[in-house]
Amino acid sequence: MTPTTGRDGATGPSVVVLISGRGSNLRAIVESQPPCRIAAVISNRPDAAGLAYARGHGIATEVVDHGAFAAADDPRAAFDAALRQAIDRHQPALVVLAGFMRILTAPFVDHYAGRMINIHPSLLPAYPGLHTHRRALAEGVRLHGCTVHFVTSTLDNGPIIVQAAVPVHAGDTEDTLSARVLVQEHRLYPQAVRWFVQGRLSIEGSRVRLAPPAGSPVPAQDGTLVVPPLD
Ligand code: GAR
Repeated sequence: MTPTTGRDGATGPSVVVLISGRGSNLRAIVESQPPCRIAAVISNRPDAAGLAYARGHGIATEVVDHGAFAAADDPRAAFDAALRQAIDRHQPALVVLAGFMRILTAPFVDHYAGRMINIHPSLLPAYPGLHTHRRALAEGVRLHGCTVHFVTSTLDNGPIIVQAAVPVHAGDTEDTLSARVLVQEHRLYPQAVRWFVQGRLSIEGSRVRLAPPAGSPVPAQDGTLVVPPLD
């Protein structure tokens, strides 16, 4: 990872963030002041609200509009090639998918193997794809949550870095449940980015190993979570 200095004075490896919409995870990452330089925020949608937030914080933005590739022989491959060019201009150590709602081709994903991460609003491998909160409610699960994982060419799949579980309450709606999960997303994603740029994550087969911070032993913890609490 080549340390660089950004316009805002942030140093560390370059990170490119991809968004399609609101950008609240982008915001959580920026506000956490990770030890890296957010080199650019790229969106496939010109109207993504997160772009305005990035511009307001002096971060370079770019739009690679997927709609512009509709007439290509292979629109998906053409879009991914253009997106790859836009990303690679920044030579990022890490590509962060933060609500980037596109299915990516295998060659694109392979190019960023081990250096592209995603956040998904479910406890993967449950509920890959869309409408995760609605599906969790329909199936009556007691625990729901979110996952940060390395990206592989299978949708919403790949070695898991960190997960957070939240209880599902009796009166929950899609809105209340998604809001509860989102609070955890905003805790998890900045942490995962920080671990990555600190060089503490390694992929071992299908699992991710988190190295302890330099000079300290792994803290013992029993993270058992049972919902509802047992009598
Ligand atoms: C987040 O809930 C994220 O987990 C989800 O989109 C939302 C984006 O919100 N991502 C996916 O569903 C990816 N499969 P944001 O734009 O406010 O960060």
